[in-house]
Amino acid sequence: MFAFINLIVLISGVNGARILGIIPSPCYSHQAAFHQLWRELSLRGHQVTTITTHPLCDPTLTNLTEIDPTQFFENGTDLNVPRIVMATQVNIALGFREYFEQMADIMDKQFSCPPVKRLIDDPDAKFDLVMGEYFFGGVFAFAKRFGCPSIGIISLDGLSYQYTQAGSLSHSTSFPDYLVATGEPLTFSERVLSFLYALGIDLYVRQYNEIMQQRVVDKHFGRNYASVYEIFRNISSLFLNANSILHQIRPLVPGIIHLRGEFHRSPSKPLPKDLQAILDSAYNGIIYFSFGSNVKFEYLPPKLIEALSGTFAELPYTVLWKHELGFVRNKSDNVIVSKWLPQQDILRHPNIKLFITQGGLQSMDEAIYEHVPMIGIPFFGDQPYNVKKMVSKGFGLELDHRNLEKEELKATILEVINNPKYRNTIKELAELAQDQPMTGIEKAVWWTEYVIRHKGAKHLRSPLLDIPWYQYLLLDVIGVLVLSTLVIVCLVYFLIRKLVRFVKSRFLKKSVFREKKD
Ligand SMILES: *[C@@H]1O[C@H](CO)[C@@H](O)[C@H](O)[C@H]1NC(C)=O
Ligand SMILES: *[C@@H]1O[C@H](CO)[C@@H](O)[C@H](O)[C@H]1NC(C)=O
Ligand SMILES: *[C@@H]1O[C@H](CO)[C@@H](O)[C@H](O)[C@H]1NC(C)=O
Ligand SMILES: *[C@@H]1O[C@H](CO)[C@@H](O)[C@H](O)[C@H]1NC(C)=O
Repeated sequence: MFAFINLIVLISGVNGARILGIIPSPCYSHQAAFHQLWRELSLRGHQVTTITTHPLCDPTLTNLTEIDPTQFFENGTDLNVPRIVMATQVNIALGFREYFEQMADIMDKQFSCPPVKRLIDDPDAKFDLVMGEYFFGGVFAFAKRFGCPSIGIISLDGLSYQYTQAGSLSHSTSFPDYLVATGEPLTFSERVLSFLYALGIDLYVRQYNEIMQQRVVDKHFGRNYASVYEIFRNISSLFLNANSILHQIRPLVPGIIHLRGEFHRSPSKPLPKDLQAILDSAYNGIIYFSFGSNVKFEYLPPKLIEALSGTFAELPYTVLWKHELGFVRNKSDNVIVSKWLPQQDILRHPNIKLFITQGGLQSMDEAIYEHVPMIGIPFFGDQPYNVKKMVSKGFGLELDHRNLEKEELKATILEVINNPKYRNTIKELAELAQDQPMTGIEKAVWWTEYVIRHKGAKHLRSPLLDIPWYQYLLLDVIGVLVLSTLVIVCLVYFLIRKLVRFVKSRFLKKSVFREKKD
């Protein structure tokens, strides 16, 4: 017992470090993924400052200071999501390009708002650790500014190039990216696609993003301040929201930490009274329907909305519909529409039967750990992949929003609710994923404090980061071996030819001589 207490004291031996967290993406899901982490770190006595577009605004967290840059701009700093969706439909590289381009503009705005500018310019500002969204090199310029180590964090699994950037191996056939992989194992055409995709992302998307980010760094920190390429590779650790249910099993260097999908779940809170009453009295069961925060019903074709609301009208269940406008025309009485619903607490309710989702990672995580089967209607980003996994692992079914018919929707809903195999599968998978020595949030806190205690993790730096690309691809080794083999083969060939000629000439001479004699 005493040993145990000592251990706890030892482990929590970093007191009151100053942590700067920067998440530039103005998307609720990218931000909310880390709310529990900021909360937990501040409760442990660290002084946490975050630059965030979606602050927690919890006055009891006295050690948490939140800077919200959006309030300094008349029209906020939102992403133009429809444009990203449109570009993605052409191809994925253009989708990324659009996202990274918009983000560079947004970060330029965020970095020029007064409180962030003060952080950049004030010589008295000091931090012991910078944690930043690992899509954007610009945030790690702050680590150089404060001469402190940094940790990359992402609310999704990493892309292959991000694993490489953090020192891990990537391989397009064995560990394909989550945005291309569908089959297990990959078919030949999928392997070709995966290879071309990895090449395109690395040579085009990554480099393009680095150029955009370099401009932001040059503008706000000064020219030649830091190379974005370098600072991406200088992180001490990388936290990814990956789990064994939805993501590829991969080789990891010790600094890359897979937080499990439940790490961002908040502790359960009592539901609002009226909602609690609705859920408790829904004896036939509840369907929870949400397309998350990025897909807006406003922009969806009316035909799709009609199919949805027409189907719901024919069901014996209560449907809770999260809709950004808070109302749906001509809805039936069993449908309750609201602008905002406490998703996690609704999914925890025993009467919940089904979750209809766009396939966002965190929504799916939340449903998985509450053992709620799903129907996925994906739109863009990682959603199609997440939904494919849902179907192939057997805890849900997929529908296509482009040609959704009432009959099909109704049949799919009834299948997922009435066939127990979906709920049984999800329960089994969730229990497997949860059987680990630490929860995701404990892991994140432990590694954060580890990096603070040791002022970085140089001793864990992957050797991969310090060898040139031609050595990584073994080009020099293969080149020399091929060359020397060629030389040997040529030598042997010439020697044999010489020998043959020599023997032939001797033999011929002899025989000519003999002929003459005869
Ligand atoms: C704030 O940090 C101090 C130590 O710096 C700690 O004692 C206190 O409990 C923390 N308070 C909250 C509300 O997190
Ligand atoms: C904000 O939006 C309004 C209306 O969309 C527009 O008239 C105005 O110029 C915008 N302001 C800025 C600073 O972009
Ligand atoms: C790399 O990280 C170290 C701390 O781990 C920091 O002192 C240094 O300034 C960083 N270098 C760059 C180029 O960001
Ligand atoms: C309203 O709903 C009813 C029955 O559900 C349907 O017959 C009618 O066409 C709908 N009207 C509109 C305008 O969608």
